[in-house]
Amino acid sequence: MIDHAILKHVHLATVALSITGFVLRGGLMLAGSSLLRRRWMRTWPHVIDTLLLVSGVWMAINLRLNPLDHPWLAAKLIALLCYIALGFVALRLGRTRQQRAVALVAALACFGYIVLVALRRSALPF
Ligand code: HEM
Repeated sequence: MIDHAILKHVHLATVALSITGFVLRGGLMLAGSSLLRRRWMRTWPHVIDTLLLVSGVWMAINLRLNPLDHPWLAAKLIALLCYIALGFVALRLGRTRQQRAVALVAALACFGYIVLVALRRSALPF
């Protein structure tokens, strides 16, 4: 079994890489850059986000945390789905630049909420 401390390091490192990559891609989107369509630009985020998800689920299993018994974890998962959906609109599906920009800001707000929920272990961390 992988040591919990290692999983947590992987989790935190992928959290940092995920948000850095998302902000960079958001900036490229707003600048109308063709870099966004490069293959590596599309594959790396999937690798990082998969590691983020796997390390999180693994830790939850190690700590025997069930989202049905721990509202903060359930809130985190729901906010993660919102972050993914808004990220899709911001970087791919949004029809106008304005739609994309609004989705980008909303996705960043979701990410901030997820971090606060994780740190305070509360679904209402404000
Ligand atoms: C964008 C997605 C995510 C972000 C930004 C995020 C962020 C964080 C942060 C900052 C911590 C550290 C909290 C602390 O030091 O006290 C943490 C811990 C944790 N995360 Fe995530 N996380 C994400 C996704 C997930 C997912 C999908 C799961 C699993 C279902 C998960 C499960 C956990 C668990 C169980 C801990 C507690 C580890 C411990 O206390 O030792 N996370 N997360």
